[in-house]
Amino acid sequence: MRSFSSDYLRRTRRGMWEERDALADARLAETSCLLDVGCGNGEFTRILADETDGEVIGCDADLALLRQNDAADSVVRGDAYTLPFADSSFDVVACQALLVNLTEPRRAVEEFVRLASERVVCVEPDNSAVRVESTVKDEAELARRSRRRYLDGSSTDPALGEDAADVMRDAGLENVTTRRYEQELVVAPPYGEDDVASVRRKASGESLRRRRDEMEGDEETIDALREEWRAVGREAARQVGEGVYERRETVPFYVVVGEV
Ligand SMILES: C[S@@+](CC[C@H](N)C(=O)[O-])C[C@H]1O[C@@H](n2cnc3c(N)ncnc32)[C@H](O)[C@@H]1O
Repeated sequence: MRSFSSDYLRRTRRGMWEERDALADARLAETSCLLDVGCGNGEFTRILADETDGEVIGCDADLALLRQNDAADSVVRGDAYTLPFADSSFDVVACQALLVNLTEPRRAVEEFVRLASERVVCVEPDNSAVRVESTVKDEAELARRSRRRYLDGSSTDPALGEDAADVMRDAGLENVTTRRYEQELVVAPPYGEDDVASVRRKASGESLRRRRDEMEGDEETIDALREEWRAVGREAARQVGEGVYERRETVPFYVVVGEV
């Protein structure tokens, strides 16, 4: 199982769901009991809890993350393929950025169908369509090449995005609808602590190390890529010093809702 740090999830969800039109089909305000699977430290749980007066339960396989989830009414440790709840325990079962991390997404959605009496809501990114713009000349191109190696080496489908609709139909859900949401992660002056830390990670080559196991390419190729990141990181750090560094990353997410 791919693991995530609380710090990583907090950083990468920054500003997400300030605008919530894309969640309309989930009809969250109508739910009385909702399960958030793969809830992690609660970045999406917080949005769900904010949108409903009903009960929100969080479930994740990672106990350390669960312990930091203070947005759920209660949390339960469990595996997405065999969730520890009885049939039809919830009116809605939801997840965000979970299916892209599973080798058998359909099996998980079948499990969600077992638990949901009304709807299943899956919010999944298409990581093949991420766009990066940066004041550092080579950063966007390097990000594109690094992402390609990750997509090619991954054991799951990080580009699942709107194809989650097919997975949900195959799992037996009906009237499946899809809406697109674009998350924007912007680094610009005045820089926060997270911005400075992310530039430091680039300059140290650390960002690449985290995903190394799943990147396509031999040691030499990845080492060369890491060197390129260090150079980009150094230039980004120089620009931060001058107050001119700007970076915008756009991640497309798809909100897919199906009726049981
Ligand atoms: C990318 S994180 C998303 C967390 C949260 N939903 C969010 O959007 O910030 C994926 C989460 O799925 C959890 N996870 C991965 N595989 C799982 C499995 N088989 N069963 C339950 N949780 C799983 C991870 O521990 C992690 O918390």
